[in-house]
Amino acid sequence: MVATYPPRTTSPLGWATRLLACPSCRGALRERGGHLGCAGCAKMYAVEGGTPQLREAGDARTDVVRDFYTAAPFPGYPPKDSLGSLRARAGRSEFAKLLDRAIPGDACIVEVGCGTGQMSLFLATANRVVIGADLTRASLELGASAARRFGVERVLFVETDLRRSGLREGAFDVVYSSGVLHHTPDPRASFAALARLARPGGIVVLGLYNAWARIPHRVRRAIGRMTGLKYIPLDPVLRDRAAEPARREAWLRDQYMHPEEHRHTTREVQRWFRECGIEYLRTYPDSLFGGEPLEGDALFQPADDDWAFENWASQVGWMKTLAHEGGLWVTIGRRADSTPALSPSESIGRKLA
Ligand SMILES: C[S@@+](CC[C@H](N)C(=O)[O-])C[C@H]1O[C@@H](n2cnc3c(N)ncnc32)[C@H](O)[C@@H]1O
Ligand SMILES: [Zn+2]
Repeated sequence: MVATYPPRTTSPLGWATRLLACPSCRGALRERGGHLGCAGCAKMYAVEGGTPQLREAGDARTDVVRDFYTAAPFPGYPPKDSLGSLRARAGRSEFAKLLDRAIPGDACIVEVGCGTGQMSLFLATANRVVIGADLTRASLELGASAARRFGVERVLFVETDLRRSGLREGAFDVVYSSGVLHHTPDPRASFAALARLARPGGIVVLGLYNAWARIPHRVRRAIGRMTGLKYIPLDPVLRDRAAEPARREAWLRDQYMHPEEHRHTTREVQRWFRECGIEYLRTYPDSLFGGEPLEGDALFQPADDDWAFENWASQVGWMKTLAHEGGLWVTIGRRADSTPALSPSESIGRKLA
């Protein structure tokens, strides 16, 4: 990876400003008297509690989603959380460990739809810099407050709508987004906006609800709805969070009461990738039957094979293995080096190399 950033500055906006852009005209932003000002259209954006407000007025459906998460930020922090316990939780996730190993120590990362920011904080180690971007200020405030409590300095949270974002296109070594696009009105168009954030050669990591893997959950949800959500069978996450009412409520709302939800397949995401100049690398879990467990930086390496039948059959199998946690799977791709929309000289990462 190529982005090398200067050492810490006293203000996080110091290093982060060059990773942001005016959501209105895409012009460069400059810090001016505690605000961010656009060099192109001269608009000024507030920075409240260290979190820039780079959100333009949205469409009605997106506003409903934002209200939904404002009422219950997702996923929330357990009481008495610490950086140690956050890292320990991530350490129990095979995927989080693989992601951490695959991302170089000097990478420039954006997490789009970071919610309350746990993954952003987890990834902000070594010399990495991380922008955690989300629509919902209430969630970002929890993330920013955890960053201050945990002493994590190389992360900046930004309030923005990914469809008209305040993020600099072509600037990021890794674009990570999980559990977000299926809650936007037009996930395919949302993906196109997300893919533009990666620098040429940059990695895109996309977690979505899988149409097959989510079938058991939808059955569970239908039963839940019949009983006014009084009886929900076999949800291990609800069971695990029985002693943490706020986090239990956040899961209940996110999984059973969401106003905007879509589901997708590997084939569909591969088509989005092609449309946006993203080379398909692999899925997690692996779509290959009997594949070896992934090691080292294998998450960002191409799978040994990409056969439509095997991809489909794996997704059917995920009804058994992924449904208990909502049926989320991850697709990973790499932006083509020669994507015509952006010349390499425009990439922040390359400028700083
Ligand atoms: C289910 S939460 C996922 C949070 C986090 N990625 C995780 O896996 O825990 C979905 C998040 O997407 C955010 N979101 C939804 N639509 C968005 C949009 N158009 N732009 C930016 N963020 C959005 C919501 O505010 C919410 O925090
Ligand atoms: Zn502007």
